[in-house]
Amino acid sequence: MKKTKLKLVTKGLKKGIKKGKKDVYWPTEELKKNAWINKKSIYKKAEKDPLKFWESLAAEGIIWDKKWKKTYSEKYPYFQWFIEGKLNVSYNCIDRHLQDKKNKAAIIWEPDSPEEKNRVLTYHDLYYEVNKLANVLKNLGVKKGDVVGIYLPMIPEGQISMLACSRIGAVHNVVFSAFSAESLKYRLKETGAKILITADGYYRKGKVINLKAKADEAVKKTKVKKVIVINRAGIKIDWNKKRDFWWHELKEKADSYCQPQAMDSEDTLFILYTSGTTGKPKGIIHTTGGYLTQAHWTAKWDFNLHDDDILWSTSDIGWITGHTYCCYGPLSNGATILIYEGMLNYPQPDRWCKIIEKYGITVFYTSPTAIRMFAKNGDYVKKINFASLRILGSVGEPINKEAWEWFFQNVGKKRSPLIDTWWQTETGGTMINSLPGIGPFIPTLAGRSFPGIRLAILDDNGKVLPANKEGNLVQLSPFAPGMLRGIYKNHKKYLETYWNKFGKRIYFTSDGAWKDCQGNFRIIGRLDDIIKIAGHRISTAELEDAITKHHFVAECAVIPLPHEIKGNVPIALVVLKKVKPSLKLIEEIIKQAEKFIGPIARPDQVFFVEDLPKTRSGKIMRRILKNILTNQPVEDISTLANPESVENIKKILRK
Ligand code: WTA
Repeated sequence: MKKTKLKLVTKGLKKGIKKGKKDVYWPTEELKKNAWINKKSIYKKAEKDPLKFWESLAAEGIIWDKKWKKTYSEKYPYFQWFIEGKLNVSYNCIDRHLQDKKNKAAIIWEPDSPEEKNRVLTYHDLYYEVNKLANVLKNLGVKKGDVVGIYLPMIPEGQISMLACSRIGAVHNVVFSAFSAESLKYRLKETGAKILITADGYYRKGKVINLKAKADEAVKKTKVKKVIVINRAGIKIDWNKKRDFWWHELKEKADSYCQPQAMDSEDTLFILYTSGTTGKPKGIIHTTGGYLTQAHWTAKWDFNLHDDDILWSTSDIGWITGHTYCCYGPLSNGATILIYEGMLNYPQPDRWCKIIEKYGITVFYTSPTAIRMFAKNGDYVKKINFASLRILGSVGEPINKEAWEWFFQNVGKKRSPLIDTWWQTETGGTMINSLPGIGPFIPTLAGRSFPGIRLAILDDNGKVLPANKEGNLVQLSPFAPGMLRGIYKNHKKYLETYWNKFGKRIYFTSDGAWKDCQGNFRIIGRLDDIIKIAGHRISTAELEDAITKHHFVAECAVIPLPHEIKGNVPIALVVLKKVKPSLKLIEEIIKQAEKFIGPIARPDQVFFVEDLPKTRSGKIMRRILKNILTNQPVEDISTLANPESVENIKKILRK
């Protein structure tokens, strides 16, 4: 990967990228000059002593009430960072900026309808709102360590709620607003939350959605005694006088200053549920000091955040990207973020471009699924002025070459580096990506591990693999500060999922990958039963569980199939009890997925089959099903208890 002579690809516009050999791009001198990090030596320095490296970042980037006594400790399978250090996250994201950024926009909110007025909250506005809500929570009896459920659409109150929790040391559990009442109920029950923050409704593609109705359903038979309701949509909703409170009414009565609670570095900041390999989602625990340090520095360096930047990360706050890059990372840097309530292609396919133009977005962070959607009949981008863009980002699933090239050429105009960031709900912040001032930017390769993070590729026996060999992506000790600190109330699952495959001191990511000679990683995808549907993380087991809850379903297997836009879609093969297959049943099965998980988990196709291929011990052979569905040769079926099922399924699919 030798650099060729400097060749600028663009003329006139601010230059960012120069092209090297083949598809390898490098930052120009100008980009390097503007970058926080532009010397490769940072990798060596961090690798030499990761503890010292992170320690200096924590000291420089975060304001501590009390300095830590010990930087890191590890006691298999747990580890801690900045031990006995004290800090408050909301102070770090708001109060610290009041002196010089009081009037700077912290959050710009763009509503679903382009006709409706937007909202802009300055850092002072954010301070006011967060203090008020923190006092409201306190007045309602929330104490340090209590869990608060947050079930909100993309409105600034999402960030306000998270920050208010962090101000008083409450633990937030945000639940994606498109998740079903059942999904919310499961999380509320597990965490024992006594209070929920929600909204009356929100807008999606011009239609109003009654969120409160789902919340009402969810809180039944949970410990939730109080529900704070934000008036977003002004719609008629059911009201429980003893339990429900309007936020705007509570706000009136609350004091406008709330002393930030000094939290221990290892106190829990939030729990975020994500799909695992079983039918039940798991509550990933993130703590305070380490998480904030990684969120802060990855946001700053990955996106090269400067004072005049506006970062738009298109994720919902219900996902980890929404936590780290729609809230904690950029706000701790005093940046401006844009959040958008609606769909990227509503009311017209070019809505996302219109938003970039309207606000002069400088950093645009989205998913490969969104990019593929933009690119489909994407001629409209020719009319758009993308001059404000400096950096493009991608996250959530492997990006294919066509999507990379399209985005880089048509949106980034070959001058904005495309930063492909690999990470997980568990890692809290990005782990692999090229840094804008260093590069290289190579289509489909995510880049190097972030400085101070040790990653490796192992074979199934735990042996380190040489360059270009595909294997298991793992993380080695010392584990990054933003990493999870456990699974809520499930030590066994934590141990089994991350620490059992390769033994102690090796975190297994469950992703397959390889790296080139320069240490740039190519992520292949999940090695377990997790599917990425349009970048959203869903487990096949969870979906199978939902479908088999239907009273006519005897058994079910869910298989991911590649999809042109969404990356993958789930296909359900269903064995019915003694009833006749019908179109109505297909509809009902699809509704099951919506009811128990949410619309994102809807199967793309449902097939009724007589039997599923199983081993003699009763395990469904999903690999065989995948081969049948993708027209691949089916391997040896002699070990199956019911080999005839394979031919039967083929026949049904042919029909
Ligand atoms: C996948 C999302 C390829 C990966 C932040 C990982 C990616 C899972 C990338 C975590 C990327 C994330 N390239 N694959 N840049 N980023 N993934 O928890 O399989 O929703 O394990 O976190 O997404 O998904 P999660």
